[in-house]
Amino acid sequence: SNKSETVFVTGGAGFIGSALVRYLIRETDHTVINVDKLTYAGHLESLEPITDSDRYHFVQGDICDKEEIQRLFDEYQPDTVIHLAAESHVDRSIDGSAEFIRTNIVGTHNLLELAKDYYESLEGERKEIFRFLHVSTDEVYGELGNEGFFKETTSYDPRSPYSASKASSDHLARAWFHTYDFPVLITNCSNNYGPYQFPEKLIPVVILKALQGEDIPVYGDGTNVRDWLYVDDHARALFKVAQEGEIGETYNIGGHNEKQNIEVVKEICSILDELRPKATGHYEDQITFVTDRPGHDFRYAIDASKIEEELGWKPEETFESGIKKTVQWYLDNIDWCEAVTENNYSLERLGTA
Ligand code: NAD
Ligand code: DAU
Repeated sequence: SNKSETVFVTGGAGFIGSALVRYLIRETDHTVINVDKLTYAGHLESLEPITDSDRYHFVQGDICDKEEIQRLFDEYQPDTVIHLAAESHVDRSIDGSAEFIRTNIVGTHNLLELAKDYYESLEGERKEIFRFLHVSTDEVYGELGNEGFFKETTSYDPRSPYSASKASSDHLARAWFHTYDFPVLITNCSNNYGPYQFPEKLIPVVILKALQGEDIPVYGDGTNVRDWLYVDDHARALFKVAQEGEIGETYNIGGHNEKQNIEVVKEICSILDELRPKATGHYEDQITFVTDRPGHDFRYAIDASKIEEELGWKPEETFESGIKKTVQWYLDNIDWCEAVTENNYSLERLGTA
């Protein structure tokens, strides 16, 4: 649609949400309402590039808060909801799952209920164009061996508290479509990387540990495989699915970039050797194999042919160019890393397996 719309984004102060909000403000003329609780993972610093836009509105709010979310739907009358708010880190879900159940399952349920009530109050064209995009992960499909790919038809087989909570929320979203004719779309994406990723996830952990001269923690033997997608390619895919996807459908999103963790870690080390050479030795020397993650899924790989063929989306960034840009971004934005970790999250905790 070429008409200016209002997009209601949850979790827009997080890694992927902030990339989506920056994309929407820069590349469309839509208005964005960003509702985020600002947990340890949410940072308004990630929105500084677009905060000045008069089409951007931030509200600090919890998706579990019925009155507040209802009030926001009434006040802003969104045309599209893109739901990213979640607890997102697998290791934290192993240490304590309660917040994952609360936000990912109860929060998604609350949002579906209130969005459905709001949708049913709409009329005419406003009602016809309304969509709710539930943003999810490939981890709901479980793990693969050396062969094969996750398709939209792959059975669910979540294995961590995080992925079980996301699987649960996907089932709820799909149920709201089948039971209530509520216009839901679902996306399941592979591992994202890029600027503004919180330094608890593999790639920023490796970059920062390397720069700090500390051990670079690799879980197990480093042969687990992840399928990496540059975050801006994901943001573009999300908006495309929200606009052009078929209601009730699921779209897998991935970049055909399967890498063993150890390959990713070594690639980052060699980029750093080039950009920020050490006085003596190489960053690789800091690599340390540590105790494996319990229930560590072996391999993820996405078959993205549905979104490519039906919606004409494909990734623009290669892993080689994307990882270089990402390392350079962290070198240029150490102040962002310090700002987002200073209060409630200690860099010291990183790597304690
Ligand atoms: P993130 O942890 O960086 O950000 C999550 C955001 O949600 C934060 O800003 C946080 O403050 C907010 N939030 C948490 N609880 C909330 C609540 N109760 N109410 C309102 N806001 C709340 O996560 P991310 O990596 O950007 O992931 C975003 C979404 O994409 C998640 O749903 C995740 O499951 C999904 N996803 C992530 C990846 C990935 O590789 N990171 C891949 C596929 C799918
Ligand atoms: O596949 C999509 C998922 O990708 C998202 O749904 C999650 O929100 C996101 O966190 C991510 O999950 P992973 O567990 O794959 O990401 P993480 O960065 O935590 O780990 C990537 C791989 O690297 C994994 O095999 C574990 C390993 N690892 C991770 C860390 C933090 C290490 O070897 N060392 C580390 O210090």
